[in-house]
Amino acid sequence: MANGRGASAGADSVLVVVPTYDERENLEPVLRRVLTAVPEAHVLVVDDDSPDGTGDLADELAAADARVHVLHRTDKAGLGAAYVAGFEWAMRRGYDVLVEMDADGSHAPEDLPRLLGALGEGSDPPHVVVGSRYVPGGRVVNWPWHRQMLSRGANVYSKVALGVPVNDITAGFRVYRADVLAALNLDSIASQGYCFQVDLTWRAVEAGYTVVELPITFVDREAGESKMSGSIVREALVRVTKWGVRRRGNQAWHAVRSVLR
Ligand code: GDD
Ligand code: MN
Repeated sequence: MANGRGASAGADSVLVVVPTYDERENLEPVLRRVLTAVPEAHVLVVDDDSPDGTGDLADELAAADARVHVLHRTDKAGLGAAYVAGFEWAMRRGYDVLVEMDADGSHAPEDLPRLLGALGEGSDPPHVVVGSRYVPGGRVVNWPWHRQMLSRGANVYSKVALGVPVNDITAGFRVYRADVLAALNLDSIASQGYCFQVDLTWRAVEAGYTVVELPITFVDREAGESKMSGSIVREALVRVTKWGVRRRGNQAWHAVRSVLR
């Protein structure tokens, strides 16, 4: 491996991108679990200048372990913007496989070997692997009923609007091949909040990439608070609706054209 990241010879180099905003209590245990579950992987913490000092803690962890990296951003610009910055950082350094994972322990790092393994499996291996709450075997633990409703509603709405055959389209625990992300034109992504997840899924499916869902158990965080907000929901609703309308318009246009031909 020319870039000297120390991944085992011949194996794909993996970067787990972890966006953080006020995750001081959660960061260290999560990173420890990631590096135990996949010792050959690297981690990139993308911190938006968390007021609670998560960024400083990330720097300390990076100083103690060469596999840990930190990208500091100056403003809280949203989950989507943090991931785009993290992915671009990763692509400049030539990582082969990129993982999305929350910092708050809701995603179990112990699931990573299974999710990563699925990326290279079979005669026609998938391009994207989604850790899914909404396939058989998937679960949500300890989420209040209003979050469950919101998540289910967002999935049903997105599925109807976009026609994407993915049950957990807002999932935040995923594995991508870096070349697939490179082809998805990250520069053009305007989604700032959690609709970024829908945006990437829909782009990948539209571009003809295969997405597989593997069951995971999502457990609500024990420390800190969710950053979900009304404006994040509104952004998602507006954008998904726009994409859906555009898609229907395109479908209608193709139908008209084929009749006129
Ligand atoms: N850098 C950065 N900037 N990180 C952020 C920001 C931001 O503006 N907003 C959230 N994060 C980080 C959090 O610190 C956490 O590590 C992760 O993104 C997820 O945020 P949460 O606030 O914990 O999300 P959630 O638990 O409410 O939502 C979960 O469900 C959503 C809907 O299914 C997550 O799995 C989301 O990814 C998912 O879309
Ligand atoms: Mn969370």
